[in-house]
Amino acid sequence: MKEKIFIGVAWPYANGSLHLGHLAGCYLPADIFARFCRMNGKDVLMVSGSDEHGTPITITAEKEGVSPQEIADRFHKEHKENMEQLGISFDLFTRTSGDFHKNVVKDVVRKLYEKGFIYEKETEAFYCENCKRFLPDRYIEGTCPYCGYEHARGDQCDECGKLLDPKDLINPKCKICGNEPVLKNTKHLFFALSRFEDKLLEWMKDKHHWRSNVKKFTENWIKRGLKDRAITRDISWGVEVPIKGFEDKRIYVWFDAVIGYLSASMEWAEKTGEPEKWKEWWKNRDAKHYYFLAKDNIPFHTIIWPSILMGYDEELSLPYDVPANEYLRLEGEQFSKSRGLAIWIPDILKRFDVDPIRYYLSVNMPEQRDSNWRWNDFVSKNNDELVGIYGNLVHRVLTFSWKNFGRVPPAEELDDMDRELLDTIERTMKTARAELEKCSFKKALREIISLAQKGNAYFAHKKPWESIKADREKCATTMHICLRLVKALAIMLAPFLPFSSEKVWKYLGYRDSIFSHSWDEALSDIEEGMELKKPEPLFRKLSLEEVMPEKEEDPFSSLDIRVAKVLEVRDHPNADKLYVLKVDVGEKGERTIVAGLKKHYSKEEIKGKKIIMVANLKPAKLRGIESQGMLLAADDGKNVSLLLADGKPGDIVRVEGVEHSPKDVVDIDEFRKIKISVDENGRVVYEGKILMIKDRPVKLDRKVEKGARVL
Ligand code: MF3
Ligand code: ZN
Repeated sequence: MKEKIFIGVAWPYANGSLHLGHLAGCYLPADIFARFCRMNGKDVLMVSGSDEHGTPITITAEKEGVSPQEIADRFHKEHKENMEQLGISFDLFTRTSGDFHKNVVKDVVRKLYEKGFIYEKETEAFYCENCKRFLPDRYIEGTCPYCGYEHARGDQCDECGKLLDPKDLINPKCKICGNEPVLKNTKHLFFALSRFEDKLLEWMKDKHHWRSNVKKFTENWIKRGLKDRAITRDISWGVEVPIKGFEDKRIYVWFDAVIGYLSASMEWAEKTGEPEKWKEWWKNRDAKHYYFLAKDNIPFHTIIWPSILMGYDEELSLPYDVPANEYLRLEGEQFSKSRGLAIWIPDILKRFDVDPIRYYLSVNMPEQRDSNWRWNDFVSKNNDELVGIYGNLVHRVLTFSWKNFGRVPPAEELDDMDRELLDTIERTMKTARAELEKCSFKKALREIISLAQKGNAYFAHKKPWESIKADREKCATTMHICLRLVKALAIMLAPFLPFSSEKVWKYLGYRDSIFSHSWDEALSDIEEGMELKKPEPLFRKLSLEEVMPEKEEDPFSSLDIRVAKVLEVRDHPNADKLYVLKVDVGEKGERTIVAGLKKHYSKEEIKGKKIIMVANLKPAKLRGIESQGMLLAADDGKNVSLLLADGKPGDIVRVEGVEHSPKDVVDIDEFRKIKISVDENGRVVYEGKILMIKDRPVKLDRKVEKGARVL
C-alpha cells in the first residue's frame, strides 16, 4: 500500500481577505510539500477550510451591521477561489459552519463528556447588566496588569502580547456599551487538558525532527503545567453544545476549528463515495500527519488538538510534524489590517502571475526567522533569478532546439563536461529531496536554482550556435543534455512553480500533466525524437515603477487627525460664539484651538474630555486668536456632538486601508472635500469606513441624525 500522508493546514478566519502573510505562513509550504509527496508516490490527503465561528466573525459582522453568516459566506467564497488561483492543491477546502463539521464536533464533545474528559463547572464570568448578557473575552476591555495599556482585550493585550484572563484586567469595561461588567456565576464545560500532560510528554519523546522553536515552545507550555480549559462560550454564533443545560451557549471557536481536520477528512471521504476511506489516514499507525501553520497557532496543534484526539479515540493518528513558520513582514513592519499594511491576495492576483509570487515567497520563506516582503527584492529576485537564470535557460534551450531540430535530438558520445552536468543533476536532486523531506523548502529551492545556473554556464561554454554549423552531431548531444536538464528542472520545480512547470512540460512535447509523473524521473533520460512545441517565454521582467503599489492618494491619508485632551476652556475675548481651548496633543505638543461650540456645550462639559482634532490644518486667525488645529464635531443641523476618543493624547485616527501619510499642512478647502459623516448606526465614517483609534471606533458624545456632517 502507498504511504499515507495527511496534511492539515490552519483554517483561515472568514472575517477578512487573505494576505501574503497567510500564504507564506502556511498555504504555500503545505502545497509544496503536498505536491512533492504526491510526486513521490505517496497518498496525500490535504484539507482545510474557513474558520467561521467565534468572536473574530461576530465582531466584524457587528461592525458592518450584517449577520455573521453573511460575513462567513462572503469570505469563504473568496478564500476558496483564491486557494484555487494560487494553485493550493487541497483535496477539500470546506467550512466550519457546515452541518457535516458541526455533527462531528458534537460527536467529539459527547464522547469526551461520556468519558469524563469534558465536565461541567461553575465559574464566575463577566456579565453586563446593561446589555443583559455574559461577555466573551474579546468583548471585555481594561487595563493590562502587565504593561498598563488601557485597552487590553480580555483574552490578550495587544500592546505587550501577554495572554490574559478577563479577570486579570484592571477596570474591566463592556466593549459594547462601556459599562462596568459584574462577576456572576455561570456554568461552563471544561476540557480536562491537565490529564494529558504525561501522555503528551510521552508522545513528544521521539519528535527529534521537529523545528527547535516548535519543540521548545511546546515543552515550555507543558512544563508550566496544563490547565483545564473552558470550551463553551456565552455567544449565539457557533456550534451548539450537545449537552443538556447548555442550549444557550456555543462551543469555543478553537475547540471547534481544530476538530475540522478530522471532520474535513470524513467529509472528503463521503464526497468521494467511500465514506470509510478517511480511516486509511486516521486509523493507520503508518500514516504520517503534518500540520502547517504560523507560529501563533503552535499550542493549539501541538497540545490541545493531540489531547482531544487522545481523549476521543485512542486509535486516531497524532501529528507527526508541525513545521510552524515565523511571520512574513512587509518592508520590515508587521502586516496589519488596521494600518493598511498588508498585501491582499485578491489584489496581488490581479497584478502578477502566481508563480513569481510563489517563487519569491519560497526563496524568502520565514522558516527559521521572520522574513520580509520587499518590493525591490521581489523585482530583483524575479528579474535576476526567475527570468535571468531559470527562465533564460529554459527559453534559450527550447527555442534553439525547436528551431534547429524540431524534436529531441539524440545524444551520441558524451564528453567530461556532459557527464559532469549529468552528475550535478543527480547530486542536486538528492540534496533537494533530502531538504524537501525535512520541510526545508528554501534550501531545496536554492539548490535547484543553482543547478539552472550551472546549466547556463554549460550552454555558454558549449556554444551550440557554433557547433550547429561545425559539428551537428556534437550540437545534438549538447542540446539533448540541455533538454534533459530542462526536464529535470521542470520536475524538481513543479512543487514550487506548478503553472510554469506544466508549461515547460508541454513545450518539451509531453501530452499529459507533469503531475502524473514521479519526482524520480528528474534523473531519467528524455525521450529521443519527441516533438517539441513552439516555446513562449515563461516569465516576464518587472520594473520597480510598475510594481510599487501605486500610492493611491486617498485624500484622507493627507490628514493628521489626532486625539487631544482638553486642558482648559475660556471664552473668546472678541466673539460671542467662540471658545478658546488649550489642548494636549501628546507628541504634537500643546495647541490652542478656537471652536464655535458655545451654543451647544458649556465650558465644564468640554473640559477634561478627549476630543478629536485635525492637527495639520493651516493655522488661521479667528477674531485675533490663532487656531492651531480644528476640533471635530458632528452637526445634523439641529444637534451638535463632539467626537470623542478612547485613547491617549496624540493617538492617530485612521480608517481601514488608508495609509497615514499626512502632509505638512492642509488648507481648509482641501479638508472640506473629505466627507466624514455619521451613518445609520451612529458611527463616524469616511466612505463607509469607520474612524478608528487603534482598534476602537471614534465615538459621539450625543445623538445626532444619520447623515450628520463632521466638521
Ligand atoms: N483561524 C485560526 C487563525 O487564523 C487558525 C485555526 S487553525 C485550526 O489563527 F486548527 F483551528 F483550524
Ligand atoms: Zn454592555
